[in-house]
Amino acid sequence: MMFAQKYQYYLELIEEYLKKLPFEDNLICQSMNYSLVGGGKRVRPVLALACAEIVGGLPGNFVREASAIELIHTYSLIHDDLPAMDDDDFRRGKPSNHKAFGEAAAILAGDALLTYAFELLSQPLSVPPEKQIRVIRETAAAAGWRGMVGGQVLDTIGNGQKSELSEIENIHRMKTGALLKASARLGAILGGGTEEEIDIVSEYASYIGLAFQIKDDILDIVGESQVLGKPVGSDEKLNKPTYPTILGLEGAYGYLAKTISSAKNTIGFFGQKADFLSALADYIAERDN
Ligand code: IPE
Ligand code: IPE
Ligand code: MG
Ligand code: MG
Ligand code: MG
Repeated sequence: MMFAQKYQYYLELIEEYLKKLPFEDNLICQSMNYSLVGGGKRVRPVLALACAEIVGGLPGNFVREASAIELIHTYSLIHDDLPAMDDDDFRRGKPSNHKAFGEAAAILAGDALLTYAFELLSQPLSVPPEKQIRVIRETAAAAGWRGMVGGQVLDTIGNGQKSELSEIENIHRMKTGALLKASARLGAILGGGTEEEIDIVSEYASYIGLAFQIKDDILDIVGESQVLGKPVGSDEKLNKPTYPTILGLEGAYGYLAKTISSAKNTIGFFGQKADFLSALADYIAERDN
């Protein structure tokens, strides 16, 4: 199957699942659902399903778990846009959550999406309980102070300081790479991968996680807000050090290409089975939203 078709296949499984979540008709559910449905590339759950498949698992068996990661990601975006963070008014092609529902509801919707994700991850699943608990533990660690939240802390509180490339790389690996890596590991663990396979998939995801944020930084400069569904120039507005500010735009493109090529070399371990994940790495570099 070609890349686009396969992506669409995974995407439909995820969208269908997200649409059927039993939200009620009240303010907090409306706020959660507003940010969750109708927008977003779903890269993290797609990555999780593809990693389950590459190790021999059936992707259809892990749609709930893959989608749980999208809830965590969506919460991170709602909070990222708040006035105390990046103060951005648009997200996924519509007003940011706090613009539509107010700051209190946006904070609470984020909290509720995060906790709901772990409720979904802990529901009965037909894999050995040790594997399920491992996934819950690893996902929690990756989302928290050692991972995504830790990266957001460095990114937000480190604003405007003179930064070294190694510091930016660390921030990118934490704020964005950690959850992408956790998605890949979730798929590989639940899909029944060997420790070696889990390691390979993780290493691949570390590269695409870094690449994903380098490209995000590039798009903040060269992208179009209509296509991105979010503002451009947000990093400059906040004087954020990024790959392009440190390496220049051409340098950032070069580093992106190098990182993508490392990702593809790593996943090549799987031979022909790696076609989708290899193409996903290219997509991450070439995407315009
Ligand atoms: C944006 O993530 C925030 C980053 C971590 C760079 P995505 O680019 O995956 O945003 P959506 O989910 O498609 O809206
Ligand atoms: C966000 O990085 C990383 C998150 C964990 C949400 P950015 O602040 O660059 O993401 P965008 O550009 O607002 O989507
Ligand atoms: Mg941010
Ligand atoms: Mg932001
Ligand atoms: Mg950005």
